[in-house]
Amino acid sequence: MIPWAQPKLFGNEEALVLDALRSAWISGGPYVERLEYEAAERMGVAEALAVSNGTTALELALRGLDIGPGCEVIVPGFTFVAAANMVMAVGATPVYADVDPDTWLVDAAEIDRLAGPRTKAVLPVHLYGNIADMDAIMAVAEAHGLLVVEDAAEAAFSRHRGRCAGTIGTVGTFSLHATKTITSGEGGLVVTNDAELARRMRVLRDHGMRKDRRYWHDVVGFNFRLTNMQAALGCAQMEKLDEIIAERARIHARYRAALAGIGGVRLQHFAEATDPVLWAMTVQLVADDGTPYSGDVEPVRARRDAIMAGLLDDGIETRPGFYALSLMPPYDCPTLPNSLYASASILSPPTFPGLEDDAIDRICARLAHHLQKTS
Ligand SMILES: Cc1ncc(COP(=O)(O)O)c(C=O)c1O
Repeated sequence: MIPWAQPKLFGNEEALVLDALRSAWISGGPYVERLEYEAAERMGVAEALAVSNGTTALELALRGLDIGPGCEVIVPGFTFVAAANMVMAVGATPVYADVDPDTWLVDAAEIDRLAGPRTKAVLPVHLYGNIADMDAIMAVAEAHGLLVVEDAAEAAFSRHRGRCAGTIGTVGTFSLHATKTITSGEGGLVVTNDAELARRMRVLRDHGMRKDRRYWHDVVGFNFRLTNMQAALGCAQMEKLDEIIAERARIHARYRAALAGIGGVRLQHFAEATDPVLWAMTVQLVADDGTPYSGDVEPVRARRDAIMAGLLDDGIETRPGFYALSLMPPYDCPTLPNSLYASASILSPPTFPGLEDDAIDRICARLAHHLQKTS
C-alpha cells in the first residue's frame, strides 16, 4: 500500500525528543523558544508563536485581532473546514466567497463583492502548497479596511514574490500535524510582523495571564501552548527543511511530467509569482477536451470516487477534495459554483518525502487506467 502521506523522520527527532524528555522541561521549554526563533527567521517574519495545533493557531489569531460577535469574516467556500469553524467558534459570522476556478483558492473579486460595513477580516486559505493571489487580496483588503488572516497550514515555506505564505497579511497560521510539510506530531504556529498583536496573542495563549503579574488576568484567555517535547520534534524537522523542500520539489516535478500526457485531468494552476513547496499533489477531473465539466457536479463526484476506489484496490491511497461548505449542515453557505466543482472533481494522490519516482510513475499509470475505464 502506498499511503497518501507519511511523516519522514530523519533521525535527530528521537535524540531531541529524548533530550526534552530527560530534561525537566516537558511542558514549555527551550525547544519551544528555539522552534519559534527558527521559524520566524526562516520565514523572514518578526514574531512566531508556537501553539497546540493549526486550529488553535487560527483561533488565537482571530481572538488576538479582537474578532468576535458582530464581526463578519470572509472565508472561501472550498477549504479545509477549520477556517470557518474558528470564525464561528469566536462568535463571528463567516461570509463565503467562491474560489478561482484554476487555483481553487479564494477569489479577490469575490472578497470585493462581499465586503460590507461589518466585515472585519478576510481569511484566505492557501491550499495544497499554492498561495492565493495575495497582490489582489491585499489591494482589496486595503480598499475595504480589512485585516488579513492567512491560513497557511498547507503552504508552509511556499513563497509569493519571495515572501513566505503567512507573512504577507496581518497574521498567518500554520499546522505542524503529522502530514504537514514539517511536523511536531500535533502543533501549530502563528506569525506576524505586528509586535503588539504578538504580545496580545502570547497573553491569550497562556490563560490571559499578565507576564509581569502571576495569576493576574486582564483578559479571558486559553491554553494553546505547545509542549517542549513536540517542539523538539519540530526543531529536528527544521534542521532538515532544505532537504524536505528539495524532496517536495522533486515529487512535484515528477508528477507534472508523468501527468502531462494524460487526458481527462488538469492540474492546480500556480501563478508566476508563486514559488510553491508542494504540500499535496492534486488533479482535477475535466472533460476530454480539457475544459471543466458544466452542469450537475454529482456525476463528476461519482466518477472521481470510483477512480479513488480503483486506485485503493491497486494499493494506492488517495484523498478527495474537501466537501464544499455549502453541502454541510453547520455552515449556512450558499452554493458557490467553483467551490462545488472543486469539491466534486479534485483528487489528491500520495505526496510525501521519500515517495520514489517509480512509485509516482506507477500511480500516474494507474490513474490513467481508471480515467479510461470510467470515461
Ligand atoms: C488549511 C488547513 N487549515 C487548518 C488546519 C488545521 O490544522 P490542525 O489539524 O493542526 O489543527 C489544517 C489541517 O489539518 C489545514 O489543512
